[in-house]
Amino acid sequence: MGKRRSTVSDDELIGLATEAREFAHAPYSNFAVGAALLSADGRIFTGCNIEISTLGLTTCAERVAIFKAVSDGVREIARVAIVADHVDLAPPCGCCRQMMWEFGTEETEIILANLDGRVERFELKQLFPHAFDSSFLESLK
Ligand code: THU
Repeated sequence: MGKRRSTVSDDELIGLATEAREFAHAPYSNFAVGAALLSADGRIFTGCNIEISTLGLTTCAERVAIFKAVSDGVREIARVAIVADHVDLAPPCGCCRQMMWEFGTEETEIILANLDGRVERFELKQLFPHAFDSSFLESLK
């Protein structure tokens, strides 16, 4: 159901993403990623990347956390921390950005971090401008 916390700091969320990263199944890329998501109703869900030998079935850490959250009833994501071990912070892929947009807001905070303590913060609207979403579908009616 996700751990419920009244408040969670960015550092705590990064810590949980770092722990989740330990479970990454990434034997093909050897690039382990962890994510920790805070829902608008105060629950935390984590995810790691899961690679499959057919490669195309690979699921990013962010989407694993989103699937876990949405399947437990979450409909709004407030913040997501993403942790990998590289000097350049790993930005979410386009597919994950689309899913964050589906369940986020323009102000959903995306925190990128590495194991050396480098951190960058974005709002989702910065990472995903000019999105296709339900408002476009509504305009077709
Ligand atoms: N990956 C993630 O889990 N999240 C990202 O934000 C970028 C990429 C994973 C997918 C794949 O398992 C590995 O990183 C290399 O692309």
